[in-house]
Amino acid sequence: MSGYTIYISADSASVSVGADDLRDALMAEAQTRGISLRIVRTGSRGAYFLEPMLEVATPDGRLGFNGFEDMRAGVATLFDSGFSPQSPHCLGLVDALPWLARQERLTFVRCGITDPLSIEDYRAHEGFDGLEKALALSPQAIIDAVAESGLRGRGGAGFPAAIKWGTVQGAPGDVKYICCNADEGDSGTFADRMLMEGDPLLLIEGMTIAGLAVGAAQGFVYIRSEYPAAIAVMRQAIGLAQAAGWLGSDIRGTGHAFHIEVREGAGAYICGEETAMLESLEGKRGMVRAKPPLPALEGLFGKPTVVNNVLTLAAVPTILARGGAFYRDYGIGRSRGTQPFQLAGCIRRGGLVEKAFGVTLRDLIEDFGGGTATGRPFKAVQVGGPLGGYIPEALLDLPADYESLAGAGFMLGHGGLVVFDESADMLRQARFAMAFCAEESCGKCTPCRIGAVRGVEVIDRINAGLDQARQLALLEDLCTLMTDGSLCAMGGLTPMPVLSALHHFPEDFRRPAAAAE
Ligand SMILES: Cc1cc2nc3c(=O)[nH]c(=O)nc-3n(C[C@H](O)[C@H](O)[C@H](O)COP(=O)(O)O)c2cc1C
Ligand code: SF4
Repeated sequence: MSGYTIYISADSASVSVGADDLRDALMAEAQTRGISLRIVRTGSRGAYFLEPMLEVATPDGRLGFNGFEDMRAGVATLFDSGFSPQSPHCLGLVDALPWLARQERLTFVRCGITDPLSIEDYRAHEGFDGLEKALALSPQAIIDAVAESGLRGRGGAGFPAAIKWGTVQGAPGDVKYICCNADEGDSGTFADRMLMEGDPLLLIEGMTIAGLAVGAAQGFVYIRSEYPAAIAVMRQAIGLAQAAGWLGSDIRGTGHAFHIEVREGAGAYICGEETAMLESLEGKRGMVRAKPPLPALEGLFGKPTVVNNVLTLAAVPTILARGGAFYRDYGIGRSRGTQPFQLAGCIRRGGLVEKAFGVTLRDLIEDFGGGTATGRPFKAVQVGGPLGGYIPEALLDLPADYESLAGAGFMLGHGGLVVFDESADMLRQARFAMAFCAEESCGKCTPCRIGAVRGVEVIDRINAGLDQARQLALLEDLCTLMTDGSLCAMGGLTPMPVLSALHHFPEDFRRPAAAAE
């Protein structure tokens, strides 16, 4: 009997629920039966609720299988069935699963499909097409394509990428840098990691195009140390790209040079803030710098620097390969293109959903996510990380885009959605936000350093039912001060989760004095 080609995700999240064990069980069973297997380790499709899953190549496409509670026995029945659709473990053709078929994958189109560390596979799936085009364009034409696409920064603030690149391009000086922010500190987010583990060459391609556009020959990827697999994969991919001539001193014989190095961050949330990240990259403690000067003018080692998130840079190759208008045609209003949304928390079908901006929160949580994991009623979703607001059920029909969320007092941030069922206590969540800020504050300015500590104390008094009306007024006042007086968005945005919890779930803040203990 001829063998099978099998695909299994090597993504950290897939491995954490048994993807390596599944591979081992398959290999052992194949050996016992004398059947040859070719196992390709891919990135993840982002369907974490289906993991560990395997896919088998068939003439019709890849058939998916999962549900191996007893791994050895499950795998044995799979071989018995000849990996056929008749197997009770069969999910059907993976590309046809509604959860995947309904997505609009541009950035994550190869993730879960290709071998992340094969240049040939990457090339065979349109990889480096964008860079190839960019190598033949002027820097201005590259920036024009990015401007036409409407691409905005995916790391949180949503700043137009082309304007940032144009500022760096026009800044005086011949040493410039591209710094990729892969600190990914927001709760409920994993898209940066998933992309770096599953399609690292895409990020390398995006950074190289950015280098060509602004005249930078050196890039750094700042990855949090909690991501050892992403760090290892990125380093390997950089070596492979260099060996294949797509990176290095003379890219594809064009005379253009671009080098990339990976740097490990030590796991402080504030090191995701761009100026603190630059300090950390310079080998200093991650403290926020006052702006101006903007990093675009005086960034790493005082040189003009592009700081972009992983997803921003990873969107660029598609824009160059397919044209700015192709990308711009996805999305609504001023939110163009697609957003990799990350569904986490108390949700039945957790994972990564890439959709054009404008999909509603309800669609993401109910249709893609399948509602709460517990089956209990939904209570809130926190969008945009630990500094994002808590959105109640009544607002779930909001389109998920920058302007719609901002208009309602929230923010999209990095696109992470953390779902809570009715058991959540929003006063505790508000306290968590203040405590998180106190813990992670860089300490440079008073409203954040001291305000967050006082905020925890005020919430504790509200929880204890002490002098509640006064404490609630004090909390609002403190939040106004933190919003207006903080140097960066760490202190400036902490009031968002606190006040959204207070305003949308006031009942959780009306504790009777008896609840004090
Ligand atoms: C406290 C704080 C933490 C942040 N963490 C991250 C992060 O982990 N990753 C990221 O890309 N941006 C983060 N940002 C946003 C960055 O400062 C910056 O806006 C972003 O990296 C710019 O890239 P973009 O334009 O591609 O979004 C953070 C901002 C603040 C205030
Ligand atoms: S707001 Fe907080 S984190 Fe930002 S500069 Fe001030 S002390 Fe540092």
